[in-house]
Amino acid sequence: MKNITTIKGTYDLLPPETEKWRKIENFIHDFMYLHGYAEIRTPVFEKTELFTRGVGEETDIVTKEMYSWTDMDKESTGLTLKPELTAPVVRAYIQHNLGAKSPLQRLYYMDSLFRRERPQKGRQRQFNQFGVEAIGSPHPEQDVEIISMAYFFYQSLELEKLKVRINSIGSPDVRKPYLDLLTDALIPAIHQFCSVCQTRIEKNPLRLFDCKNDACQQLMDTFAPLIFDHISDEDRSHFNTVVKLLTELEIPFFHDKKMVRGLDYYTRTTFEVTSEALGAQDALCGGGRYDKLVEVLGGQSTPAVGFAAGIERLMIALHENEKTEVRSDTDIYIIILFEEAIPSAMVIADKLRRIRGFSVMIETLRRSLKAQMRETNKRKAQFAIIMGEDEYDQNMVLVKEMKTGKQERVPIPDISLYFSVKDHHHQSDCGCCGDQE
Ligand code: HAM
Repeated sequence: MKNITTIKGTYDLLPPETEKWRKIENFIHDFMYLHGYAEIRTPVFEKTELFTRGVGEETDIVTKEMYSWTDMDKESTGLTLKPELTAPVVRAYIQHNLGAKSPLQRLYYMDSLFRRERPQKGRQRQFNQFGVEAIGSPHPEQDVEIISMAYFFYQSLELEKLKVRINSIGSPDVRKPYLDLLTDALIPAIHQFCSVCQTRIEKNPLRLFDCKNDACQQLMDTFAPLIFDHISDEDRSHFNTVVKLLTELEIPFFHDKKMVRGLDYYTRTTFEVTSEALGAQDALCGGGRYDKLVEVLGGQSTPAVGFAAGIERLMIALHENEKTEVRSDTDIYIIILFEEAIPSAMVIADKLRRIRGFSVMIETLRRSLKAQMRETNKRKAQFAIIMGEDEYDQNMVLVKEMKTGKQERVPIPDISLYFSVKDHHHQSDCGCCGDQE
């Protein structure tokens, strides 16, 4: 029989990689706390309509990347595994009337998402993001809080070769005349574009900027007017303040007039942080302002801005950087040399974990002393507790400090106390314990 394996574009995360992930996840939670953002968790699947309306009918995500199905429930209009989190967060914001609780909601999330993309390095079909959404403020300082969080996040992890690209795609009222202009400019050359672009031009010409086809992008360079050149005076002044604040914060950025981002909800500011360490999929994170989304999804008009960051891509960049070290996993390894000692070993392990907070492993493979010692070293344990027959008959164990090789006999009832003194001595360098160990 053929083995059953993971689905294309998905993967298992195994130890010790999981340790690195947890470390980063903890770092993210702490980082968000420092910035006053509170965590939100939403369901894995939502009504399909949330994304068609929220993200946009003609986007890559909605036209070709969603995992959608018809539910058995007759009422259902179709369900979808979430491909992104801004629309679900806004749905939750409206559903729970969060705007009434506070005029500004600062929310963050960390979650798995699903997009049926062509898998490659840094691009999976199930992937993980963390992200933030600040819902309530229309002002440029809110955009800059978000952009600076993204930048300082990577900077504090000492990632190098970072680039911040920003742009403004203006507010929706100036979008219409621009889109007409864009369509008029592209129509004469439309037969040279790919078939997807040809269908999109009528419904949403802005999405032609997203096409991954080189030939289409060259045509865009030649024919397409840039949206930044057509934004309103208010949009421009908003953008200028963003630029001024970023400069004050000494965040290096460049203005990329071609960047429109692939989701329909953006208004005014868009941005991405890229890293040269990543290769073709070089976006560590992306985001922007989305002042109309709350209204589009049925809430009261509320301005908002946010970003989301791929965790797989972060891990690749960190790996290239080789700056994350994995913590050593075990404090104490309990070596068992004969069967009768097993219950007692388990009780000791339990006590040291629960009362003393040590990470303890016990032998369950019944191997030789040599093999168990090797395991103790492999686990980088600081101590081995050796349960040998001679000591055990006297209600004792042998404790070996791995660094120095020193061994001493400790009565089993005193073991927890013994390690509390050790711990005190180790952690505080107290001087009160002398050399008696
Ligand atoms: P996005 O640009 O689609 O934006 O995704 C944000 C980040 O998620 C990307 O920069 C990338 O790091 C990661 N990412 C996206 N797709 C994949 C994939 N298939 N495999 C691995 N990583 C991936 C959004 O999702 C918006 N909701 C961001 C936002 C929040 N805008 C406002 N608020």
